[in-house]
Amino acid sequence: MQRPTPIDEAIKLDPKRYLVSRTDKHGVIEFANDYFIEISGYSKEELLGKPHNIIRHPDMPRIVFKLMWERIQEGKDMIALVKNLAKDGRYYWVFTTFEPDRDLDSGEIFGYKAFRKAPAKDAIEVIDALYKKLLLIEKESDMQESLNYLNKYLHEVDSSLEFHDFLENLHKFY
Ligand SMILES: Cc1cc2nc3c(=O)[nH]c(=O)nc-3n(C[C@H](O)[C@H](O)[C@H](O)COP(=O)(O)O)c2cc1C
Repeated sequence: MQRPTPIDEAIKLDPKRYLVSRTDKHGVIEFANDYFIEISGYSKEELLGKPHNIIRHPDMPRIVFKLMWERIQEGKDMIALVKNLAKDGRYYWVFTTFEPDRDLDSGEIFGYKAFRKAPAKDAIEVIDALYKKLLLIEKESDMQESLNYLNKYLHEVDSSLEFHDFLENLHKFY
């Protein structure tokens, strides 16, 4: 499937509704709720069985997904602010909580769930500026450099802050 060409137009989300998806342990979509499907612009058939990067927006820095995967593969939750790409090229920002799904007997992770809601405008402004910088560094250099920049940025906000805490605070604060 050809990737949509991004356009600079946001989709307005209903602040009361969640966009939910579930994947296997490799990030292949196994379930998406009606609102997720509607906003993505794809049909259910187009989404199920596809890697979740089907809605990846090219404005998202790679380091954000790397840190997200590291955390959820360790069995921890992760909150992230993500800019997604709809089929028609428009974008939508979402506060996303990622959770591992475990086998009750073995405790083994067999997949993940993600719950998304519309973020406050102020949170988007903070994160958009940071992501633009990280993306630029990744284009001009590499992901290690964007991680270095992110760590320095976080240290300046609060020396004990990890990326996950920073995002959680943004979520709580706004
Ligand atoms: C449960 C779950 C939900 C995900 N939701 C999104 C999402 O909404 N948008 C997105 O770009 N990536 C999402 N991802 C991450 C993608 O799997 C992928 O790592 C990311 O799009 C980066 O793609 P790339 O590795 O091809 O660059 C999700 C992963 C999981 C496990």
